[in-house]
Amino acid sequence: MDLQYKFPEGFWWGSATSATQIEGAANEEGKGKNIWDYWYSIESNRFFENIGPEITSDFYHKYEEDIKLMKEIGHNSFRLSISWSRLIPGGRGNINLEAVKFYNNVIDQLLANDIEPILNLFHFDMPLELQNEGGWENREVVEAYKVYASECFRLFGDRVKTWFTFNEPIVPVEGGYLYNFHYPNVVDFKRAAQVAYNTILAHVKAVESFRTFNIEKGKIGIILNLTPSYPRSQNSADLEAANIADLFFNRSFLDPAVLGQYPQELICILEKYGQLPITQKEDLELIKNNTVDLLGVNYYQPRRVKAKENLPNPYSPFMPEWFFDNYEMPGRKMNPYRGWEIYEKGIYDIMINLKKNYGNIESFVSENGLGVENEERFIKDSYIQDDYRIEFIKEHLKWLHKAIEKECNVKGYHLWTFMDNWSWTNAYKNRYGFVSVDINTKKRTFKKSAYWFKEIANNNGF
Ligand code: BG6
Repeated sequence: MDLQYKFPEGFWWGSATSATQIEGAANEEGKGKNIWDYWYSIESNRFFENIGPEITSDFYHKYEEDIKLMKEIGHNSFRLSISWSRLIPGGRGNINLEAVKFYNNVIDQLLANDIEPILNLFHFDMPLELQNEGGWENREVVEAYKVYASECFRLFGDRVKTWFTFNEPIVPVEGGYLYNFHYPNVVDFKRAAQVAYNTILAHVKAVESFRTFNIEKGKIGIILNLTPSYPRSQNSADLEAANIADLFFNRSFLDPAVLGQYPQELICILEKYGQLPITQKEDLELIKNNTVDLLGVNYYQPRRVKAKENLPNPYSPFMPEWFFDNYEMPGRKMNPYRGWEIYEKGIYDIMINLKKNYGNIESFVSENGLGVENEERFIKDSYIQDDYRIEFIKEHLKWLHKAIEKECNVKGYHLWTFMDNWSWTNAYKNRYGFVSVDINTKKRTFKKSAYWFKEIANNNGF
């Protein structure tokens, strides 16, 4: 077949999800509580339509059916996360054998359907007991994570080759410690910096442990939401604003994970404002020696910034926004439901940056997707005709293809997400899946994009 956009042999076609967003069974078969279970129990009003994480898409009971559907639409890979509080209730101590059974079954089912399981160890869901000890602010929790990660490698490493330590580790920093959209709802930059730093420590300790397992063809990485920072203009103040935004939101994780060191400029800013985290001397060696094999890139939207219009109030809490203002570019294309700009070329710019400045590290698009409200509006002939999603994916893939033509080392594309899932405080407001899920009956139905994706996965292009 003559294809205009042909992808490299072995390209990953699939989708991504996370434990808390799909599993449900939040209080079943020995699972411990995580911060989402707890936060919902004390403040359900913070969640769209008061819907919490107890049932979600019920993957815990329906995984066999779901994996068959994945196979049907051409998935050759699927990324999911392990729920730490399901595997080790309380975060440390005994392993929950029911959880081992469940994850073993999921992995085996995926493999039986020729779908490569890609496992992520942490997707925003800190066990409650460990959060009560201070969560990522506490180095003891870092040690507990290392034990948890090692148990996962031991239990599942015979079949799972591709591992990720964290999904978007900056999000719990932003949500939990700066902007109040995750528990524990703290606003304190210095604590946020400690959380970010300790997360990197947890990450490198897991990488270090992973290497000792000598998993055949095993690779380990981290998944980052890389959000290119575009300046309003080429004026030097706008450029500097974009540079600082990039340091805070991208390079704070990208540089230590891939290059094994923090950007000096970021250290200088934090030092100047008295915001550096507490560190130990030996940490630097550990970070340097445990860089990743591959990188997951989550891309939804760009960040546009401009030089500040007004100086920040020096008595207000220190924030990244002391150095730039967000910029609303006239004429930008928007996803009005999520309030995010759509800028397809961003995916190309990210890959070119990885090629130029990060040794062309192997990467893949680990999340990209379009959340839309009230998709039932688009039902025709009993299924959702989501042409807007097909368009969205296609335009991003075109730019990804262009990056591959420029020899960027890109291995795959995963949509967020396989089936409509529970999106944290947005609950079921915006739907992202190839498969719609009736939130009452849990019935699954393919959307038009699922059929379309099957074609491109089967043809390895379009
Ligand atoms: C990513 C996360 O940031 O975006 C997912 O990894 C999340 O967990 C997805 O669901 C979509 O964002 P949201 O906030 O609309 O659910």
